[in-house]
Amino acid sequence: MNSPQDNLMQRIAALPRCDRTDAWHALKAHYETHGRGFDLRGAFVRQRDRFETLSVQAPEVYADLSKNLLDPQTLQLLLALARECGIQERRNAMFDGHAINVTEGRSVLHTALRAPRGQGCFSDDVHRELDAMLAYAETVRDTAASGIRHVVNIGIGGSDLGPQMVVPALDAWVHPGLNFHFVSNVDGHDIGPVLRGLDPQETLFVIASKTFTTQETMANAHAAKDWFDANGGTDIARHFVATTTNVEAAAQFGITTTFGFWDWVGGRYSLWSAIGLPIALAIGAGNFRALLAGAHAMDRHFAQAPAAQNLPLLLGLLDVWYRNFHGFTSRSVAPYHQGLKRLPAYLQQLEMESNGKCVDAAGEPLPFGTSPVVWGEPGTNGQHAYFQMLHQGTDVIPVEFILVKTPSHSLPDLHAKLLANGLAQSQALMRGKSAAEALNEKAPTAARDLDALTLAKHRSFPGNRPSTTLILDQLTPRSLGALIALYEHRVFASGALWGINSFDQWGVELGKALCVDLLPRLATGGDLDGLDASTAGLIQRLRSA
Ligand code: F6P
Repeated sequence: MNSPQDNLMQRIAALPRCDRTDAWHALKAHYETHGRGFDLRGAFVRQRDRFETLSVQAPEVYADLSKNLLDPQTLQLLLALARECGIQERRNAMFDGHAINVTEGRSVLHTALRAPRGQGCFSDDVHRELDAMLAYAETVRDTAASGIRHVVNIGIGGSDLGPQMVVPALDAWVHPGLNFHFVSNVDGHDIGPVLRGLDPQETLFVIASKTFTTQETMANAHAAKDWFDANGGTDIARHFVATTTNVEAAAQFGITTTFGFWDWVGGRYSLWSAIGLPIALAIGAGNFRALLAGAHAMDRHFAQAPAAQNLPLLLGLLDVWYRNFHGFTSRSVAPYHQGLKRLPAYLQQLEMESNGKCVDAAGEPLPFGTSPVVWGEPGTNGQHAYFQMLHQGTDVIPVEFILVKTPSHSLPDLHAKLLANGLAQSQALMRGKSAAEALNEKAPTAARDLDALTLAKHRSFPGNRPSTTLILDQLTPRSLGALIALYEHRVFASGALWGINSFDQWGVELGKALCVDLLPRLATGGDLDGLDASTAGLIQRLRSA
């Protein structure tokens, strides 16, 4: 007899994939009649309450969706798509700890890491480990007693990008006596400059690896240990700490202080676990708890808000609308806050490792596109680089602006300029400029002998380019927690609509295996048998002798 868990998983497996629903077909037809030629400027004229109707207040995050290529009917059909795909049931299965990561037979419970004590799955285990990790962080933060001045996190992917993104984002909360360094690449040019100038007795190395087998992290951890020994470091137990699910491997490495987590925490969803130790060291226990609380508030919103007001769901639906109906292949993220400079890199792993798949959960090839390319830079820097392409390039690329109302600095003048820039870019993308308008403008830097009409064509903008604007009142531990959780759930929503398993990453395996094969071949005299001519030729060119 099947257990209730098996029954639920069977029901979920039987839920239709997005392209097998009535709503999908209705959306296809609607796109042909109203989507392809949709004009944002006209929509604002026709729909007087467009801004009010298409803005959502989620915990800590306000979102203006009104500059997207959406009409009321599109939205209704997308919501119908969510219903037909059983998003609610799939979401509940995740929160309740069912093994929705079907290819690895695992639950997906990063939400349990931020549930208050006594709530959520595995609460006792979660809070025991959290309390221990935070208590340890406080002992290190007592720098007079600990003597620690530098923290070096050695990890890669999910064991690096979260802390590396959050620590600078929360700079205003960071312990002034501690300096943070992040080493990820298996390239001496990464760890080398970090170690230069450090004093082993003032340094704490955090070896962060869920598996404790990742080649890059293990190589860098050994390099750090060798450097520590060679430079007179003593008391490894005080200067090396591990965050991992593989406590035995950490012990074999010689690390005795270890904070653990569980296989139901995916690497790219792990900053809320012991992997967040550098964050806790930077901002302290109270602020780390506020980060968790912000994420939990977004979890509740995703679990409870009605679909039409559910921000992660709406963003996931927009992703599907743009990717599968408009055919847009990328999305740009522009955080107008320098502290969020690593957010695009963090989101690249979160979104593209989760949803960059070409088969559905049952292994069937997908006949439609999945994860868009996610990329970006903080504003205003991006404006002076690739925004040219966003405004006048041949591809339409939806942009996500992230604005923060109140800065964490008190320098005069700068913040209003920053905000005005962000708003102007989203306005320009939407408004565009016709050749007729350009014709009436002066262009003092234009070539004198160029005829006016040709010049106007170069100076016109198609406009009607979509963007979303997210606003945080301030970038705090709580609001950042909510923002990250918003993106996590948006990825869940689009992945669930596409019918894929967003929680495995088999696509990283082949390259890893081939690397193991190639490493000995690269050595002088190494065997090149069986290699393709390109790889063999490149190896010969790269060999030192
Ligand atoms: O190679 C991909 C990956 O497995 C990511 O999913 C993960 O975040 C990263 O490597 C690091 O893995 P680990 O934490 O086990 O070292």
